[in-house]
Amino acid sequence: MTDGPAAFLALLDDDPTWRVPGAFRWRADAADQLDLWLVSLDDPAQRQRAEVLLDAMAAADDVLFAQVRDAIRAGEGRAALSPWLDVGEPTGAHYDALDALIAGVFALAEPVPDDPRPPADMVFYQPTPMRHIVDAVQRAALSPADHVLDLGSGLGHVPLLVHVLSGAAVSGVEREPAYVASAREAAVSLGLPEVSFTCADAREADISRANVFYLFTPFIGPVLRDVIARIEAEARTRPLRVVALGPCTRTFARQAWLHTDAPDPEAADRIVIFHSRR
Ligand SMILES: C[S@@+](CC[C@H](N)C(=O)[O-])C[C@H]1O[C@@H](n2cnc3c(N)ncnc32)[C@H](O)[C@@H]1O
Repeated sequence: MTDGPAAFLALLDDDPTWRVPGAFRWRADAADQLDLWLVSLDDPAQRQRAEVLLDAMAAADDVLFAQVRDAIRAGEGRAALSPWLDVGEPTGAHYDALDALIAGVFALAEPVPDDPRPPADMVFYQPTPMRHIVDAVQRAALSPADHVLDLGSGLGHVPLLVHVLSGAAVSGVEREPAYVASAREAAVSLGLPEVSFTCADAREADISRANVFYLFTPFIGPVLRDVIARIEAEARTRPLRVVALGPCTRTFARQAWLHTDAPDPEAADRIVIFHSRR
């Protein structure tokens, strides 16, 4: 970002634009740099200056998070997030500044799961990097006419963000009760009655209202097979879309009742959107 700690600290003193709440990305990069230097910085005065700046950056972030939360409650969340929604053609499993922003805005409690070791063929909690969800909302053209179901919804980032960006009704099904409690709390605190969460096994949950199914590889093997059979049965009653990320995409790509325009239907590091055949 700059030549060294002394020059960088001077830059932060001279140019106050990083204090503007909306300068989130810049602040995130600067905080990363300061954190890195703090590991080896020997000069006590520089250390103290860096720590004060990090606190000031966290305070500016908190102001931004509160502003976006207020906008979400007022039904203007998409506009409030718009400066950070240009995600290009995202790939990969890493997290970036958008994930930090969404984590700060949603402020989801992260409880220890009651069952820290999931049963065979069920995958432990790992959130989708949020740029993939921005991409999915755009490419699947999600709208208030849709009902999206996140199968294995974890702490609820996906349902919350999908609703904020698209206006679609969104539900999450999650087997871990502590995660469901946290997700419900966030939906209530953000004033989002069209986002709901059910604590259930995806093999048994009610999936009859959804026309879009999202799966970030929540299960594999026979569990995935059972859930796919349930979605296929629903596809006989109405047109459906399946939005997949991760290794489960390969299994969906092999379903004769689904088709996709994606150049690589088996891509594991990019959202793939499948449509049911009529
Ligand atoms: C990889 S995480 C995905 C979380 C979330 N969908 C996201 O993309 O951010 C998988 C989640 O599925 C849940 N899960 C695994 N097997 C399940 C099942 N049979 N029924 C419901 N949820 C399940 C796990 O507890 C975990 O929270």
